[in-house]
Amino acid sequence: MGCSHLGFLLLIYYFLLVVLASESPKSFPIMAFDVGYTQLFGSDNMAVHREGKLVHLSLDERTGSGFVSQDLYLHGFFSVSIKLPADYTAGVVVAFYMSNGDMFEKNHDEIDFEFLGNIRGKNWRIQTNVYGNGSTSIGREERYSLWFDPSDNFHQYSILWTDSQIIFYVDNVPIREFKRTESMGGDFPSKPMTLYATIWDGSDWATNGGKYRVNYKYAPYMAEFSDFVLHGCAVDPIEHLAKCDNPQSSEAIPTGITSVQRIKMESFRKKLMTYSYCYDRVRYKVSPVECVINPQEAERLRLFDPVTFGRGRRHHGKRHHRSRISQAEATTI
Ligand SMILES: *[C@@H]1O[C@H](CO)[C@@H](O)[C@H](O)[C@H]1NC(C)=O
Repeated sequence: MGCSHLGFLLLIYYFLLVVLASESPKSFPIMAFDVGYTQLFGSDNMAVHREGKLVHLSLDERTGSGFVSQDLYLHGFFSVSIKLPADYTAGVVVAFYMSNGDMFEKNHDEIDFEFLGNIRGKNWRIQTNVYGNGSTSIGREERYSLWFDPSDNFHQYSILWTDSQIIFYVDNVPIREFKRTESMGGDFPSKPMTLYATIWDGSDWATNGGKYRVNYKYAPYMAEFSDFVLHGCAVDPIEHLAKCDNPQSSEAIPTGITSVQRIKMESFRKKLMTYSYCYDRVRYKVSPVECVINPQEAERLRLFDPVTFGRGRRHHGKRHHRSRISQAEATTI
């Protein structure tokens, strides 16, 4: 395939993603920071601007920083716009997540967006993960590249959590749908959680497993947050009962993915997903129960990273040989 031909296809693809992403299906009320959130740690490194419309969290050699929602929620749609720090950000981690780890040490639930910094010239990577009832021995991570540079501008990152599924969105494009299955048992988050946003030093694992550490020569690293949406069922912290006294507002929580959104999601995952636990043959000889293996996805990831996503010892001969050829082809493109 000629170089210009490939370039043209890429251009069309990015154009489509931008056009599709700009269509906003539903908007929820945006709240001022102080109405829904409060400071968590690193108070010197957190600043609230423009009457609570904008919050800066920074990381320097002394500390990171973070904020937390005032309420606990059982289900809902939770969203924030983030502009990540630019240039050299190796080892820097920014996270937007839900957890109840402070209340349930041994059997906590968690739903994560994690942004992993990178060396200069390489983009941030984004990771999603889910834990239910302390299922931390099974990592359910997925990683992706984005179709934009997340340090250039604000982009919206959202979590939809219902009793039957979890959907992660970037700019209203669903990027992951995590469905509750019966065989999953307690591994699906089912207890009330609070929302968190943090920036911290993840030198030990964030960039190539700790190969590139945070370089404080470039500090402070600052992440910006705006458009705070906490559209969920707030829960009484003592009784753990949901106080959804406005049924209209809970009805407004989206209940699934439309067919148009599903096309966008599939297109995103086909092009930009770079890791999925479901295909990780180093960690899981047998995929966790909820995994639905898509042969094309498996093949694509295997070409991308033959060690992690290889098929192990079961396949020999012709098949193996063929895959090596296509691997070589993949490198030359
Ligand atoms: C969650 O974990 C606790 C403690 O390990 C256990 O008693 C409970 O049955 C679990 N719940 C579910 C739904 O699996």
